[in-house]
Amino acid sequence: MLTDFLVLGSGVAGLRAAIELSRYGDVFVVTKERPAEGSTGYAQGGVAVALSDEDTIGFHYKDTIKAGAGLCNKKAVKVLVEEGPERILELISWGARFDMLGEKLSFGREAAHSIDRIIHAKGDATGEEIETALLSKVKSLPNISKLPFCFTIDLIVKNKICRGALLLSNQGEIFPVFARAVVLATGGCGQIYSMTTNPAVATGDGIAISYRAGAILTDMEFVQFHPTALYLPAAPQFLLSEAIRGEGGILKNIKGERFMQKYHPDAELAPRDIVSRAIQSEMRRTKSNFVYLDITHLNKRFVKERFPKIYRTCLQYNIDITEDLIPVCPSAHYMMGGVKTDIDGATSIKGLFAAGEVACTGVHGANRLASNSLLEGIVYGARTGKAAGKYGKSVKGIEPFADRFVLPRRPVVRAGSYDIEKVRSSLRKTMWSKVGIVRCKKSLTEALKRLRGWRKIENDFFATRRELEVKNIITVARLITTAALLRKGSVGAHYRSDFKEPGKDWKGHITLHL
Ligand code: SIN
Repeated sequence: MLTDFLVLGSGVAGLRAAIELSRYGDVFVVTKERPAEGSTGYAQGGVAVALSDEDTIGFHYKDTIKAGAGLCNKKAVKVLVEEGPERILELISWGARFDMLGEKLSFGREAAHSIDRIIHAKGDATGEEIETALLSKVKSLPNISKLPFCFTIDLIVKNKICRGALLLSNQGEIFPVFARAVVLATGGCGQIYSMTTNPAVATGDGIAISYRAGAILTDMEFVQFHPTALYLPAAPQFLLSEAIRGEGGILKNIKGERFMQKYHPDAELAPRDIVSRAIQSEMRRTKSNFVYLDITHLNKRFVKERFPKIYRTCLQYNIDITEDLIPVCPSAHYMMGGVKTDIDGATSIKGLFAAGEVACTGVHGANRLASNSLLEGIVYGARTGKAAGKYGKSVKGIEPFADRFVLPRRPVVRAGSYDIEKVRSSLRKTMWSKVGIVRCKKSLTEALKRLRGWRKIENDFFATRRELEVKNIITVARLITTAALLRKGSVGAHYRSDFKEPGKDWKGHITLHL
C-alpha cells in the first residue's frame, strides 16, 4: 500500500497531526484498536490553558517549568503555552464543548498550578469530548483514511530514512505501507507496570519500534505516577482525577488521619511525585495497600455534576463517593521521556516524526504539570503534522522504493511458543516493585537482570499482536530501567532512595539508542 503520510496512533496528537497533514496529501491513520480506544479518550481532568481573565501565558510557563524540576526544554514550554490558547479555540470551533460558567469557560484547579487554569468537558470526560471533536473533523476530510485494528510491527527504515511501516492486520496478514513521512503518535507505556491508569493499548509500541529502527530516545527514567487510582482488587484500574483534590478532596490513611500537610506545604495539591511518595510511605507505615480519598464534605449535588463519570463508575463498585471514603493508591500514569524530537516533531531518523506521549520534546522535563498532556497533543500534533507535511512534499521516489521492497524473510515464532502471559505478568510486577515510585541500585539491577533474561523474546519475530506487545514492553521496560540506573540522583518523578539528592550532573539528559 502506498500513501503520502502515515500516522501511527489515533489519540489527540495523531488526529491533530492527520488534520494538518491532510493539507499536504493523502493520510492513513493506523491504529491497533478502534480509533477512539486510547489514553486520550480516558483523560478526565482537562486541559491546562492560559485562557482565563486572571491567567497569563507567563504564569502557565512558570508553573510548567517549576513542575519539570529544572529539566524542561524552555523553548518547547514556550511553544506549548503560547500556541495552546489558539489551538483550543480552534478545537472549540470544530465542535468541542467545554464546560462553561455563564458565558465564560469554567476553570478548575489541579496540583502545582498557581491559578485555576484547567478547562474540562462534561465534568470529567474531557478526553472523550476532544477525541470526538477531532474524529468528526477527520471524518469531514476526504483524504484521511483510517486503518483500524492494524498493529505496527516495525518501521521501514532504509539508509537512515523512514519510508513507512510493516503492519499486521486483525486477520493475521503482514503488509507494508509506504509513505513520504511517518508520524508516530502511539501514546504511552503504562502497561509495563502492574498498577496503571493507562488503557490496555498503552504498551509502548511506538517507543519500541523507534528504538529498533535506531531512533534516539531520551529521559526514559522519568515515569509519572498518578497519586490516586481506584484501589479495589475486584475492579479494573480507574483514575480518580487530580481535579477531585483540586476541588477540595483530602487524603487520609487507613486510620482516618489526614497526612499530606506533613509532607508538603501545599498538602493534597503538592506536585504528583511528592503526593505519590507520601501515599506510599503512609501505606507502608500503616501496613496497607491503599489510603483514602475523601470528598464526603463537599456538596453532594456539586460532586455528582462535577464528576459524573467518576461518580457512576465508583457506584458500580458500591462506592458512593458523596458518602463513602474512596480507597486509592498511586499508579503508573505518564511517560515524560520517549522518542527525542525537536519542537517540530522531527526525530533523529529522517522522515520519522513523533508527537504526544511517545515523543520527548522536553516540554515536561522531569515531571509533567497536571493537564498539560492534552494540550501537548494538540499543540505538538499540529506542529508535527505541518513539519511532516512540508518534509513529505520534498520527498521523491517513494514509488520506486516500494516497488523494490522485499518483505524481510525471518522465521516467525508461532503463538504459544512462549508462556507470554506469564512473562507479561511477571514483568509488570517486577517493574512495579523494583522500578516504581522509589528505586535504588539494588532493585534496578535485579529488574534489569530479569528483563535481560527475556532478551530472546525481544529478538524474535512474531506475527501475533499479544506476542508483539509483550516483545515491546520488554524493550521499553529495559530502557526505563537502564536509564533509571544511569541517573544516580533524584529529580522530579525519578526518585532513588540511594541517591536522594539530584547529584552533580543532574542537568544532563540520558539518551539511549540501539
Ligand atoms: C487527572 O485528571 O488527574 C489526570 C490529568 C493529567 O494527568 O494531566
